[in-house]
This record gives sequence, structure tokens and C-alpha cells, in this order.
Amino acid sequence: MSSRLEAEHLYKVFGRRPGEAVKRLREGADREELRADGTTAAVIDASFSVEPGHIFVVMGLSGSGKSTLLRMLNGLSEPTAGSVRFDGQDLTGLSDRALRELRSKKISMVFQHFALFPHRSVRDNAAYGLAVQGVPRAEREARADEALALCGLAGWEDSWPDELSGGMQQRVGLARALATDADLLLMDESFSALDPLIRRDMQDQLLELQKTLKKTIVFITHDLNEAMRLGDRIAVMRDGRIVQTGTAEDILVRPADDYVASFTKDVDRSRVLTAGAVMDTDVRGDEADCDCETATPDTTFAELCAISARLTHPVAVVGADRELVGVVPRQRLVGFLGDEPGAPEACDSPRGKSGEKVTAGA
Ligand SMILES: Nc1ncnc2c1ncn2[C@@H]1O[C@H](COP(=O)(O)OP(=O)(O)OP(=O)(O)O)[C@@H](O)[C@H]1O
Ligand SMILES: [Mg+2]
Repeated sequence: MSSRLEAEHLYKVFGRRPGEAVKRLREGADREELRADGTTAAVIDASFSVEPGHIFVVMGLSGSGKSTLLRMLNGLSEPTAGSVRFDGQDLTGLSDRALRELRSKKISMVFQHFALFPHRSVRDNAAYGLAVQGVPRAEREARADEALALCGLAGWEDSWPDELSGGMQQRVGLARALATDADLLLMDESFSALDPLIRRDMQDQLLELQKTLKKTIVFITHDLNEAMRLGDRIAVMRDGRIVQTGTAEDILVRPADDYVASFTKDVDRSRVLTAGAVMDTDVRGDEADCDCETATPDTTFAELCAISARLTHPVAVVGADRELVGVVPRQRLVGFLGDEPGAPEACDSPRGKSGEKVTAGA
């Protein structure tokens, strides 16, 4: 399966002589050195690929370069160096006209504060992208209504934007992006202005929609919990550079450096970790031969705790053929809830307290 979206060695420099700045960055200069000359290196050597149907999250503090990176992905901002390929087509080589066409049909953006037209109905707001494309009224209204229904706004089509709550308005923004049938959704802090409960609701809704729509999504956030809930993969940015790309578990369990580790301190680990990440794999040669309750590598941490509470011995983790792939002693669960990144020292024998063999049912 080919990647839907690929960025290779992307740079964006604002200021004088950007080409020269890129050369210096390639030679190892950092953002601060360039800033002294009045040049801003917003994005430095960013490479990643996003598989079709995946949510790729870009996470980083304010000013780390997230929005600049996103704007290069749909050609709103021209890279100083590097390339962006979407469906195998190099965006950096396209004419302005071809880029506009691509943006109106295949790529949609959802912003933090979605600006709705106050004097247009919710339906007309959702249909806006289709109107720009020149889709006839009847068809665009039908597609807008469908997208609004997907976003939980059925029945609100004829309302005015100011009759909707902030969360509902943001949903209209999402519906507008979905109505165009764009394959690629670029979402810049789309849920950040919402209060926590509504924000969570929107995250759930996006994940639910994604099960059927399978869009390719790049989602920007400065919130690591949000990143971990939504992202199939997450890129962490710092001062213009991507410092780590990986799954939520990679970032939590194997942070690339102290900077990434410092972010993970506030993450609710129990929502991210699975048995595969916390198990002790030093169980070579053991067979699965009893019929006690077991976990699989993708069993969630919460479920793993529940299983552990029902057993007097460590939980056996089994693979597709019921073969033993790891064990999780109870102490290990507790260790992973602390804020130490990485696996805690096993504080129990993988064979269990009394030395009995931990096995799984056939
Ligand atoms: N048009 C521009 N001209 C000059 N500098 C810019 C421009 N756009 C962005 N920058 C600079 O590039 C850097 C990255 O900005 P960017 O907006 O991409 O950050 P961000 O990660 O999206 O931040 P935030 O979380 O606050 O939205 C910042 O230092 C910013 O000042
Ligand atoms: Mg931004």
C-alpha cells in the first residue's frame, strides 16, 4: 500500500536569504544561531509519511512550527526546500492553479476557530466548499445534510450559526470539510478552543467517523493526551524539528530524549498502554497449556488491571495461536503507572510468586 502523504526533508525559513539559511541548517546550525541574523527557521528537515486512512498527529509547543508544517502540506506555503507528495504527485512542482484545484477537491482544512458565515444557514455553511467547486445547489445541499448528520447535527440544517454552541459550530466546520469528499483532512488545533467535555466528545466523534470514512488526517495539537487518543502515529516537534515519530506507546515507553519524556509526565498512561507494552517477554519456551484467563498484546491497560485483579498469579499474554508471548505480574502494572518512562525493573519472577509456571489455556 503506497503512502497517501509524504514529506521529505521539508524546510521553511522566513527572512532574508532563506536558501543560505537552509545550507547552514544542513551543516548543523540551529534555530537560535539563525535568529541572531533576523531569520526564522520555522520548520527544519521534517520527513514523515502518512498511510491512507491513518491519523497522523503533530504535537509540539507554541512556536514549534506545527502550523507552518501543515500549510506546506496543502501548498498554502511553499517549502524553502524539500518536497511534499500526495498520492504520488509532487505538490512542490504544481502551478498555483493546480494547487487551488487540489485544495478545493482533495484537501480540506479545519481550523481552531472555524469562521462560519453568520448570515448563512448551517446547511449553506456546510455546503460552502461545494459551492466554491460549482456543485449544483440540490446536490450540494444533499451532501451538506449528509455531512451534518455524520457530525451529529441532523435537525439543525436551517438554523443560524449563532443559535449553535461553540462545539456545534466546530462540528459545522468539520461537516464542511467532510462534505467536499476530500481525502486528506488537515486539522490545526481544531478542538483546542472547546471545553474539555465537548473536546472529548469531538475526539470520540472523529474516531467514530474515521472507522467508516477512513480519511487521511494530519491533526495538530499541543496536547499530548489528545495526540495519544487520536494518533495512529505521532510526531513530536521542538524548535522546528521533529524529534520523535512513533505510536503513542513508543513515545510513552521509549521517549527519544528527556524533552519528549518531560511531556509524557502528564499523560494518563492507563489510557494509552496495552499489554504488549507492559509485559515481561522473558518467558521463552513456555507453553500455553492451562485454561486460566489471559490477555493479548492489544488488551488495554484498564482491562489488564481487571484481569490481574481476578487472578492470584501474573497475567499470561498470548499470541494469535495462544502461544505465550509475555507475562504481566501485578507489581509491573503499578510500576507502569508511575511517571518513569520505560519499562520498570521486573519486581516479580515471570513465573509468579510461588514459582508456579504461568501458562495459558489452549
Ligand atoms: N509568516 C511568517 N513570517 C515570519 N515568521 C513566521 C511566519 N509564520 C510563522 N513564523 C514563525 O515560525 C515559527 C513557527 O510558527 P508556527 O505558527 O508554525 O508555530 P506553531 O507550532 O503552529 O505555534 P502555535 O501552537 O502557537 O500555533 C514561529 O517562530 C513563528 O514566529
Ligand atoms: Mg499553530
